[in-house]
Amino acid sequence: SIYLDGLLTGEPPAYPTGASALEEAARERLDPGPRGYVLGGAGGGATMRANREAFERRRIVPRMLRDVGTRDLSCSVLGTESPAPVLLGPVGVQSIVHPEGELATARAAAGLGLPMVLSTASSYSLEEVAAASGSGPRWFQLYWPRDDDVTISLLARARAAGYTVLVVTLDTWYLGWRPTDLDRAYLPFLRHIGLANYLSDPAFLAGLSRPIAEDPTAAIVHWAGMFSDPTKTWSDLAFLRDNWIGPIVLKGVLHPDDARKARDTGLNGIVVGNHGGRQLDGAIGALDALPEIATAVGDDLTVLFDSGVRTGTDILKALALGARAVLLGRPYIYGLALGGEPGITHVLRCLLAEFDLSMALSGHTHLNDLNPKILT
Ligand code: FNR
Repeated sequence: SIYLDGLLTGEPPAYPTGASALEEAARERLDPGPRGYVLGGAGGGATMRANREAFERRRIVPRMLRDVGTRDLSCSVLGTESPAPVLLGPVGVQSIVHPEGELATARAAAGLGLPMVLSTASSYSLEEVAAASGSGPRWFQLYWPRDDDVTISLLARARAAGYTVLVVTLDTWYLGWRPTDLDRAYLPFLRHIGLANYLSDPAFLAGLSRPIAEDPTAAIVHWAGMFSDPTKTWSDLAFLRDNWIGPIVLKGVLHPDDARKARDTGLNGIVVGNHGGRQLDGAIGALDALPEIATAVGDDLTVLFDSGVRTGTDILKALALGARAVLLGRPYIYGLALGGEPGITHVLRCLLAEFDLSMALSGHTHLNDLNPKILT
């Protein structure tokens, strides 16, 4: 229908359909601060480039004459049904690119039935986003606070608001070294953006010595002091297990031994990825880490993937190398920047259409047909 809409009306689509054109359009649309924050990476961008190179190095070897007329892309990930192996990954501070931010994302995701992972650092509270998501599937990402009362409170709120899976981010105990943002003195949090879940949290507010209205800066300082705790170790995960009913996923795993540890610690899943090259510059390209990890843990752990996914064929390659599903990052934020909810819906529909086509053109009809042997 994306083809036909264009061919029948003779009108080009409202937003670009290709990954590079989409990124260029977003680059032009955004002001310098948000542009650098969203498009940029850590250090000199080596890991961001490695993420793309890892995809581009791999090629698909298509098979012919296999009746690909009907395809089923649906899947179940940790108890969540989805029409395709694609989730909207956690991206904080979305109101820096569009005023509706995560509310638009929640509506677009729910409209297509795709699961959304809400960031702790969202611009709207998790309850507001849950209302926008309605009956759509939703997971909650935790930046694990230093203060246990705040953690317990956030988890209880997320559970009550219908978030079913907890995603704990492991690669961001400190913000990475991001020269673009540093040189522009741009950090959304310092403008109170991304603090909605804290500023609506009774346990967080109880720790403030003066009301926010009287001392807005003190609230930021209080948040910065508890945003994360770099002293956490594997044994601390028991605390999350005790305070969360439901699956727990660790995000940002790159070493097979850490994947084994996740499995042996009784976690339910991992996201293989490097935060889109925004944290440790020089870290391994995410797709290069995937095959060994998938082999190490087999079916004992649900392996998800993110970092560098830009096209439908990227989704196919990540699944072939062992991911159960992928998380999208920047591409849907580009859609949000360009057109709010319809912009995101456009990006998602294009990615799903291209993935579906890639399945057919490579000779596959089911997700479990995909394995490393279909690549070279
Ligand atoms: C992120 N990411 C992220 N991850 C997370 O766990 N919590 C968060 O709040 C954020 N915030 C965030 C903001 C922005 C602007 C970006 C671009 C990314 C990381 C995100 O979930 C994902 O890992 C990467 O975006 C994947 O890489 P690509 O596909 O964007 O290259």
